[in-house]
Amino acid sequence: MPVSPARRAAFKILLRIDSTDAYASELLHSSAFAKLSPADHGLATELVLGVLRWQSALDARIAEHRARGPAKLDLEVLTALRLGAYQLLFLDRVPAHAAVNDSVELVKQARKRSAAGIVNAVLRRIAAARPGGASFEKLGRGLAGCAGLSHPPWLVERWAKHYGHALADAICAYDQATPKTAIRVEDPGVLEELKRQAVRLGPGRLLAKAFVVEAGDITATGAFRERRLFIQDEASQLVALLAGHGSSILDCCSAPGGKTRILAEGNPGAAIIALELHPRRGLLVKQLVRARNLRVVAADARRIPLAREFDLVLVDAPCSGTGTLARNPEIKWRLRSEDIGRLQSYQLEILEAAIERVAPGGRLVYSTCSLEPEENQAVIERVVRTAGSFRVLDCRTELERLRLAGELETGDLDSLLSGPYFRTLPGRHACDGFFAAILEKQP
Ligand SMILES: C[S@@+](CC[C@H](N)C(=O)[O-])C[C@H]1O[C@@H](n2cnc3c(N)ncnc32)[C@H](O)[C@@H]1O
Repeated sequence: MPVSPARRAAFKILLRIDSTDAYASELLHSSAFAKLSPADHGLATELVLGVLRWQSALDARIAEHRARGPAKLDLEVLTALRLGAYQLLFLDRVPAHAAVNDSVELVKQARKRSAAGIVNAVLRRIAAARPGGASFEKLGRGLAGCAGLSHPPWLVERWAKHYGHALADAICAYDQATPKTAIRVEDPGVLEELKRQAVRLGPGRLLAKAFVVEAGDITATGAFRERRLFIQDEASQLVALLAGHGSSILDCCSAPGGKTRILAEGNPGAAIIALELHPRRGLLVKQLVRARNLRVVAADARRIPLAREFDLVLVDAPCSGTGTLARNPEIKWRLRSEDIGRLQSYQLEILEAAIERVAPGGRLVYSTCSLEPEENQAVIERVVRTAGSFRVLDCRTELERLRLAGELETGDLDSLLSGPYFRTLPGRHACDGFFAAILEKQP
């Protein structure tokens, strides 16, 4: 029996995510799945991200309804069960027989024919056990308690310790919902064009040139394809704006290039160099940022192959990404608590090399999309202690500058600050969780 293209694609992607270090967002946009119709692509996206967001809750339901059988299921069998259970429990519009039959067919096609009976029986029991047929969606899918259970306990405990229980609950609840797509539009003419193409935009929550997509497929528009607008979370946009201006700029970890693009737009007269470790990812920066004043260099920021100094250096460091779990839910199942220390050492290595390239009187902006203090203020405090000639500037001054310039729309600067640092928290703010620090080198 044929399986629907959306479910087949979701099954393949979920298997890839479990067996490699690929990201869901990259696989969903890869050429292998570009042939899906917009409706199938939408359903595949919902299935992949939904299963990843609710994985532990789904596994608990599956275990509850699996009285017998092997203790450990093959990955293909478990994935087909998760896919089926997610549709039964979360998607009111999917008929139960379609969810069950396609999962059974998927395990058969994956050469796990002997498990077809288990998949059929478990999914039928899950369907029958829904109270009055009600799904989580009807029962209130955003319940904070339930959201907390869909995160590894060690992560929730960390957030409760650092931010308090109420904020930890808010972060978990934010991670479990589909975040709105935020875009940046520099040219107001693009807004009129989008209106004509039935894309409905709402205002950004923080920034004047940011908009959220309320309806329509932004990726199907000419403006998106021609890169006259780009998709970027508002907190990420704000970090690039905080970095501000310079006549010579080094962006140390630049791909896919969202912040480089804002820097290039705000500094048309500057000489900008964007480093990226992976040459293939460096190409993404070249595609997104067509500015003549930009040079993309494939290099390791721990050993910067440039002798000169810059008056503005950005280190948007590789990090755990715990501020982006609503968009990248697979991270929460991959990350181990011991990874945080390893990431900190890597971030320190990059930062220690980058500060060597700051000219006297120049600035360095360090940022991550991590919620973990070890990757954020702890890194800054260590570097400032050892480097000596740097001081931490108060991000409030730069936020004020952006407010006066009409870039930043919110007047509530306190909520964007944690001491001298810039800090957004998903759930408290309607965007990813970002951290940024600004360091200045003595003249
Ligand atoms: C957080 S992402 C940067 C996002 C980017 N600044 C933007 O706004 O679109 C970190 C990037 O650093 C790259 N990277 C990792 N290690 C690196 C290193 N040692 N040197 C340079 N780039 C590195 C990763 O490949 C990744 O593209």
